[in-house]
Amino acid sequence: MATTGCGILDAIGTTPLVRLGSFGETQSGGARARVWGKLESFNPGGSAKDRTAHALVRAAEKEGLLRSGMRVVESSSGNLGVALAREAAVGGWEFHCVVDQRTNSSTLAMISALGGILHPVDEPDPETGDWLVARRKRVAELKEELGALNLDQYSNTAAFDAHDGGTMAEIVDKLGRAPDVLVAAVSTTGTIGGCMRHIRTHGYDTSVVAVDAEGSVLFGGERGPRLLPGYGAGVTPDLSRDVHPDRVIRVRASEAVRAARKLAGSSGFVPGASGGAVAHAVEELVGEGVSGDVVAIFHDDGRAYLDTVYNDEWVAENLGSEALQ
Ligand SMILES: Cc1ncc(COP(=O)(O)O)c(C=O)c1O
Repeated sequence: MATTGCGILDAIGTTPLVRLGSFGETQSGGARARVWGKLESFNPGGSAKDRTAHALVRAAEKEGLLRSGMRVVESSSGNLGVALAREAAVGGWEFHCVVDQRTNSSTLAMISALGGILHPVDEPDPETGDWLVARRKRVAELKEELGALNLDQYSNTAAFDAHDGGTMAEIVDKLGRAPDVLVAAVSTTGTIGGCMRHIRTHGYDTSVVAVDAEGSVLFGGERGPRLLPGYGAGVTPDLSRDVHPDRVIRVRASEAVRAARKLAGSSGFVPGASGGAVAHAVEELVGEGVSGDVVAIFHDDGRAYLDTVYNDEWVAENLGSEALQ
């Protein structure tokens, strides 16, 4: 059982909210937006998923479902895997992580370094062609084979608690008021759903913009190939059924990569792939003349994407040269 008070897990949360003044905020017909970035890479595992994993684990411990010596299996695009591997190391249980080919190599190495056991799936699901579907099928098999507990980030509402009482509460606290617009990338929808619960509970009139991947089935999207890890989903997660953002902006991989590289070179913050998609959505909103405080959540940073999003050869080969501009 984790000791609370001064362990590594107590370093989760209270991430910086900083001005990112590189979006041409004053150019849009007089309307002025102040763009802020909530930098979740400052969590110990480098992503917002530290908060989610911590909430999933605490809830399972509280319900008496998870104890030291047990096994846990989960599917992850990478960040939740790192976060759960750390929870397992501290909590004394065994963590099995089902991943696919799109997960960054440094993220896989980090899961292993923390003692996590990797189970890569080699092919997408033959029926749907989707990697996430294949990963979830493998989780179901391993659950049986290993007698493992599955915390199921796709349906576990503990994820909402993490971002309601954590991420969104911190944003309001730092700004001294609720933002006018909140922009966040989506996959399980745990982050945006938790933030929205906070907004609705407190009666704030923040407009919530979900940033989804082209090819994701979330919010009525049409299934298609998705190249970048982290955002978008190939199956509709149960969590998302009650999540209704005010607006959905779908971003292509090439747009996300171009915006990530532009933000890195103009703001001093190097975003991850989903952060690039968020930056593209913010550019779009600012171009439309949005005004007030616009808070963009950056789930992680670019360190794990140096071989992909920030590698010219990889970008030209996978997305064509337009993404390099
Ligand atoms: C980098 C990154 N961005 C965005 C998301 C989406 O967050 P959520 O699953 O809470 O919707 C994730 C989730 O894994 C992620 O790892």
